Amino acid sequence: MTDEPVKKDLVALIASPRNGEATHCTAADYDRLYQESISDPDSFWARQAERLDWQTMPTKISNASFDPVSIKWYEDGVMNICHNAVDRHVAAGKGDVTALIFEPDDPQSPGRTISYAELQAEVIKMANCLKKLGVGKGDRVTIYMPMIPEGAIAMLACARIGAIHSVVFGGFSPDALAGRIEDCDSKFVICADGGLRGGKPVPLKANVDAALEKVAVDAVLVINHTDTDVEMTAGRDHWYHEISADVSADCPCEPMNAEDPLFILYTSGSTGKPKGVLHTTGGYAVWVATTFHYVFDYQPGEVFWCSADIGWVTGHSYIVYGPLINGATEIMFEGIPNYPDFSRFWEVVEKHKVNIFYTAPTAIRALMREGDGPVKAHDRSSIRLLGTVGEPINPEAWRWYYDVVGDGKSPIIDTWWQTETGGIMITTLPGAHGMKPGSAGKPFFGVQPQLVDGDGKILEGATDGNLCITASWPGQARSVYGDHERFVQTYFSTYKGKYFTGDGCKRDADDYYWITGRVDDVINVSGHRMGTAEVESALVSHPKVAEAAVVGYPHDIKGQGIYCYVTLNAGEEHSDELVAELRVHVRKEIGPIATPDHLHLTPALPKTRSGKIMRRILRKIAENDHGALGDTSTLADPSVVDALVEGRLNR
Ligand code: WT7
Repeated sequence: MTDEPVKKDLVALIASPRNGEATHCTAADYDRLYQESISDPDSFWARQAERLDWQTMPTKISNASFDPVSIKWYEDGVMNICHNAVDRHVAAGKGDVTALIFEPDDPQSPGRTISYAELQAEVIKMANCLKKLGVGKGDRVTIYMPMIPEGAIAMLACARIGAIHSVVFGGFSPDALAGRIEDCDSKFVICADGGLRGGKPVPLKANVDAALEKVAVDAVLVINHTDTDVEMTAGRDHWYHEISADVSADCPCEPMNAEDPLFILYTSGSTGKPKGVLHTTGGYAVWVATTFHYVFDYQPGEVFWCSADIGWVTGHSYIVYGPLINGATEIMFEGIPNYPDFSRFWEVVEKHKVNIFYTAPTAIRALMREGDGPVKAHDRSSIRLLGTVGEPINPEAWRWYYDVVGDGKSPIIDTWWQTETGGIMITTLPGAHGMKPGSAGKPFFGVQPQLVDGDGKILEGATDGNLCITASWPGQARSVYGDHERFVQTYFSTYKGKYFTGDGCKRDADDYYWITGRVDDVINVSGHRMGTAEVESALVSHPKVAEAAVVGYPHDIKGQGIYCYVTLNAGEEHSDELVAELRVHVRKEIGPIATPDHLHLTPALPKTRSGKIMRRILRKIAENDHGALGDTSTLADPSVVDALVEGRLNR
């Protein structure tokens, strides 16, 4: 290992032209606007708020403190985000502009194009169905959907009537879904009968039924997507096409205070069960509107494609709210990158003449492995900007994305942010900044990053430390649903008065930021956050397991893989069958994204004399970095480590 994060020849600043056209932001604009956003945030963010329609224009802009923790933006403003994403475009005569282009999982199936006027009609229809089922302002609504337009429509319908949506990724298990319904006391579920991913059916309604054996709700609204035969519980379950038949075509947008909750989104942390990160209305709307405008530099008529799922924050901010508030035309893709084959992404790019493409490094790595053929088989001349998000991108994958996918002519934006930040925080801006492969780049307007050491000492200049943000920004999460103290503890107590991201980060001499990965017990598997504690508790819930310790390790495609050390109850035999059974058990408890990559059955875990598991050692062994185990003298039984190393080398 060297100090350099990447090979020298890859670090060079690469110019990011925007094909000679005007951009929303030049380098000089960035410097001036960034300065203003820091020195006079209230006037900067008052101006950005003008991107939106407000029923009552806010006069109080920011009112935020990290010690004690209280975060408010635009607190006397009144608006509705659905109106901003949909209705106002129709009112401005842009009803015929295409909002969503639905591209189904099966390329042979017919797609669907939805204009802003049609989107408005669809959202109103769904909103009225929700009202008919008894959903009111402030009620939590759980959305468990495939990547079909009705997923976005469901979110917008909730926002329209002031209900708080909680989208649960369709890949989560019934148990995980039940936990998320219970935690926010949600009484309503919107789901589809089934989904399709890579030609395989996803039994969404059956999963909802299984979840509802553990937790009761008042009503389930079921969208027929795959004509799957599903059970309908009388009095509770309603087919959307039936109950929507006679609803009115009129549904005014509920006036919402800027600080009224908009959504809850569950995310993993280093301890305990997933947290319901809470975002509110006005500040979030301004943040996603402003970041989408500048970062993707969207121009009218362009086609935007973010390949994320609406079950993650990327889908919330850059499929649903950011693009639609900006009146963009975008793709909603139901499928996966490798079905029917590895050229699926580029086929979609060619078919719909995609101009801006935003995806995850894990997808890029998986596609890179298949060579240039599938990419070059398709016309990608429409592409003018490429983006990545979710995890650090290794410079080799960056280069391939730039040279092969983008033919060396499209800038790449590497956007660092989190569920808690609401939108993009660190990125270069196309046309304004040169790019360094592997570096996210510069802070967005209003973002004040700071690197600190383990004791909280502020580190200046080119350095390496823990990434904090020192001042609030409009898109910031306001709380953890139902547990504000946990919000304060998790994000503001490690370094008092600062928001701690959980990420390690380098800053170079050009003030570029390089995210080096999580420094807490969170692993990033294919751009998805997984708490090691969550996987551990899934493992120990198996009757044969005594104890488990889970760590991340470098994985070629996924970025990080899940490595599980497991000790069994006395008398239980190690066997391949048991390993397979534990793998299935974790998938059932959490979902396929938590599937262990390595299950290492061991008679003992390395512990200190006081009984604390030494995770540092377990991480090194999982990384196959046996030479660097460090000090093992505090171990109660040092021979445990030798046995573990042996076990690791044997696989
Ligand atoms: C964590 C947040 C942001 C939406 C998707 C993930 C990692 C995110 C980058 C990037 C390096 C990144 C961080 C962060 N991460 N983007 N461009 N470079 N790391 O949202 O599930 O809340 O995860 O993803 O570790 O803390 P999330």
